[in-house]
Amino acid sequence: MRTHHHVLPPRAGAGHLALDESELRQWGIDLGASCTPPIIISLTGELGAGKTTLAQSICAGYGVTEPVTSPTYNLVHRYEAPRSAVFHIDLYRLEKESDLTNIGWDEIIADRALVIVEWPERAGNRMPDGHLHIDLQYSADDPARRVLLAG
Ligand SMILES: Nc1ncnc2c1ncn2[C@@H]1O[C@H](COP(=O)(O)OP(=O)(O)O)[C@@H](O)[C@H]1O
Ligand SMILES: [Mg+2]
Repeated sequence: MRTHHHVLPPRAGAGHLALDESELRQWGIDLGASCTPPIIISLTGELGAGKTTLAQSICAGYGVTEPVTSPTYNLVHRYEAPRSAVFHIDLYRLEKESDLTNIGWDEIIADRALVIVEWPERAGNRMPDGHLHIDLQYSADDPARRVLLAG
């Protein structure tokens, strides 16, 4: 049981989707297909909530053909896609905000690219305003579903 996780009731309101994994992947593919660069997408949620799964799906929909792997250790992976470069960033292991400079944060967010950021909280006030934020949470009633909030 995942009783320690913060959960929302299922279908808690408008804009809350409770998606199984294939639905979540399709949602991500559709989002990626509709993205026009420059665009920054932040993904929040606990470990295992599905942030990397969603990032992989967004990349696939955007036209990245190489395998998208979790950048947990490198912090950033870069891919090519027809419309722009893609940066997939995971700040889980960022030790301090100033280390963002070392991974080229300022250049990446100024680029005309698709930028996907897991653990954006770690970037503090260096996370730009006005990006698309997607939050994923475990579903209270179904371990195979995630509650997705986008805004
Ligand atoms: N509805 C769902 N949506 C996304 N992932 C799911 C879902 N149900 C089960 N999973 C599983 O949860 C895990 C999510 O892992 P991952 O995407 O790496 O999460 P995170 O990056 O948030 O730590 C995967 O093993 C995936 O197969
Ligand atoms: Mg991840």
